[in-house]
Amino acid sequence: MDVKHYYNPQGEEILDEKIFGGSPSGFVDFNRSKYKWDSNIYDLMNANTWFPSEVNTSTEKKNFDQLTDNEQAIYKMTFAQLSFNDSAQEEYLSDFRRLANNRLVKSVLSLQIMQEVNHSKSYAVLLDACGNSDEVFNLYKHDQMLNQKNQKIAEQFARYIDGGSIDKMLLSAMASVNLEGIYFLLGFSYIYLLGDKVPGARDMIKFIARDELNTHLPLFANIFKTIQKENKIQTSTIDAAYTMIEDAVNIELEYGKYLLEQYPIMGVTPELMEDTVYNYANDRLKKIGLKAIFKESSATYLQKLVTKHLEMNEVKSNFFESNVSNYAKSSIDLNDF
Ligand SMILES: [Fe+2]
Ligand SMILES: [Fe+2]
Repeated sequence: MDVKHYYNPQGEEILDEKIFGGSPSGFVDFNRSKYKWDSNIYDLMNANTWFPSEVNTSTEKKNFDQLTDNEQAIYKMTFAQLSFNDSAQEEYLSDFRRLANNRLVKSVLSLQIMQEVNHSKSYAVLLDACGNSDEVFNLYKHDQMLNQKNQKIAEQFARYIDGGSIDKMLLSAMASVNLEGIYFLLGFSYIYLLGDKVPGARDMIKFIARDELNTHLPLFANIFKTIQKENKIQTSTIDAAYTMIEDAVNIELEYGKYLLEQYPIMGVTPELMEDTVYNYANDRLKKIGLKAIFKESSATYLQKLVTKHLEMNEVKSNFFESNVSNYAKSSIDLNDF
């Protein structure tokens, strides 16, 4: 590797470092941020810091054993898939980070990588308490649809990650918008539907969902919009971004409907799933500055469940509030545009 990759005194000014292309000096300076959203998201990520050991999993096995057969299957198939998402995301972020130039944005990605590892650790802690860790982590070997969802997510990650052009980098960012904003969502809903029956799983998912939706999704939405603003992007690339989110919607619904057919849950229908995933996809498109293209309906019951658990007023309220003042001095706005 070129020495200048680490230290380049003749490199560009920190405030000139774009996300893509350039020659940074090599310093990470939180007091000179070209973008405000990067340091704001970093502060919010830190304020939300949690550890799997903080979640009470002592009764998880007892609670799990009392679930119906269908509920147990939903629980296992959900964690089998979500745990793949986080494993893949950690590796993907490490690769995506190499495409980036701005050192502060790269630093925020480093913290995100740590959080994804924390999510992987949390699944292991939870499933160990539940006594079915080996079984759940090996389900991909036995379930064709689970295997297929994982495979399709991996293919979307791999398609543009080699970089080489700004258009490819933008589409790589899109893959992450899909992961943070689409592929977790029905899984989160399932666990919230089980809710009080499995409080350990519910609380663990609550923390994970807050990371994904309150900070990781805004981070990649800002990366996507900033790349678009700073560069001339081909129309065909934007078309490809729309195709990627259409694919994501199909991937999410395919697995969701499969689980529902195999293991019906009261009150959940294929239409409810469709409305939910379409609404999420429209929201993600708006967040990255594109047009909503899916059928729009009012917020569904599943969406409301997820939103309710995003609020920061429960387990970590004191911790969060004591920290919020530290960065509220500047701005908690996560979006510069
Ligand atoms: Fe995660
Ligand atoms: Fe994430």
